[in-house]
Amino acid sequence: MKVLGIDIGGSAIKGAPVDITTGRLLAGRFKIETPLLLTPLEMADAAAMIAAHFRWKGPIGIGFPGVIHGGRILTSANLDKKFIGCDGIKLFAKATGLPVALTNDAAAAGLAEMKFGAGKDFGGKALMLTLGTGVGSVLFFRGSLFPCELGHLQMDGRDAEKRVAASVKQRKDLSWKQWGSRLNCYLETLEDILWPELIIIGGGISAKHDKFFKFLKPRAKLVPAEFLNEAGIVGAALWADKERHR
Ligand code: BGC
Repeated sequence: MKVLGIDIGGSAIKGAPVDITTGRLLAGRFKIETPLLLTPLEMADAAAMIAAHFRWKGPIGIGFPGVIHGGRILTSANLDKKFIGCDGIKLFAKATGLPVALTNDAAAAGLAEMKFGAGKDFGGKALMLTLGTGVGSVLFFRGSLFPCELGHLQMDGRDAEKRVAASVKQRKDLSWKQWGSRLNCYLETLEDILWPELIIIGGGISAKHDKFFKFLKPRAKLVPAEFLNEAGIVGAALWADKERHR
């Protein structure tokens, strides 16, 4: 089965058709940079442009960087605040004219990793973090997923994502060691509460894991994500399929 996966991020929206039986992209992804904050309607139009680019007529799965309850968007830490309270499913379904399923972006990325990537065949307690503009988080246990908001845990008096997101490393020009040490403190806190057996680190920066994993000393097994930038797209498509069979 084929689903168009769309990943909405802090600086771009991107999508591609996904074969959900293999987790493979069926075409090169189409990306629209969003250097300025888009309003919900503009973002929905961008999603429609992605669907039009692939002449898509089937189901769409979308990952959004905020809390999603049902189809409703409840938070928008790094995007336009006008998303808060929106019926996200209606918004994107209206713009694309196609059936839409919506989930949190990190939950989507985690789904892809657990099914086809770094967490494949792992049935224990896994924590996936995505380090990008913000910090996304999701827990898995015996194949069930639990989207979290661990990026908003307080660390040194601020949201942890303002200390350890990949965007912070870049903005503050932190060395790998400086940033890695911050991340290690954050992981220590998370481990004391959650005691995961496996921690998967995702986000584009996970491609450079050899530069910072040496500063991380968790109890759990630590692995980089395998999908890198495609996890959100693949996972959003998987989510749409999951919702169809609910
Ligand atoms: C949002 C999360 C999201 C994460 C990564 C956070 O600011 O609150 O919902 O998963 O950023 O995009």
